[in-house]
Amino acid sequence: MQEIKITTTLTCYDHIEELPQNIQELMQHAIEARKKAYAPYSKFKVGAALFLENGEVVTGSNQENAAYPSGLCAERVAIFHAGAQYPNVNIQQIAITATSDNHINKTPIPPCGACRQSIAEYEMRQEEAIEIYFMGAEGKIMKSNSLKDLLPLVFDKSYL
Ligand code: THU
Repeated sequence: MQEIKITTTLTCYDHIEELPQNIQELMQHAIEARKKAYAPYSKFKVGAALFLENGEVVTGSNQENAAYPSGLCAERVAIFHAGAQYPNVNIQQIAITATSDNHINKTPIPPCGACRQSIAEYEMRQEEAIEIYFMGAEGKIMKSNSLKDLLPLVFDKSYL
């Protein structure tokens, strides 16, 4: 028997102004996308913005449905859109912001497990790490250098 310890390293920024200029702009795109969320059920609005290697920015917001599981998270709306429109263009960064209509969330809100799994697929496909920045409505921002840092023991095609 052996115990295995998995460690991960994230960077934490105190405020959006501490981010590099290009990431501040990307986060601004995510904030704008968040405002377009369709979240009448959860009142929890999420925006995601992807920066592609060709300079394009692709955004997404969560889209809910009266049949709850038919809705989709902001990150997957954005990443599937990028996959459909720019299939061979690498994604370099993702900025995510989320807030509730009920309170201003000031702690970084990470992507859910299903979104991590979806982002992992694209990171492996492009064979280049995707930097992920996530925030609440405002305040601190966390950054992972790769999706792998957010999802150890990822399930991938090597297991098929
Ligand atoms: N949501 C996202 O858009 N991204 C996540 O990573 C977590 C959750 C959405 C789904 C749903 O519309 C609402 O937030 C509440 O879960």
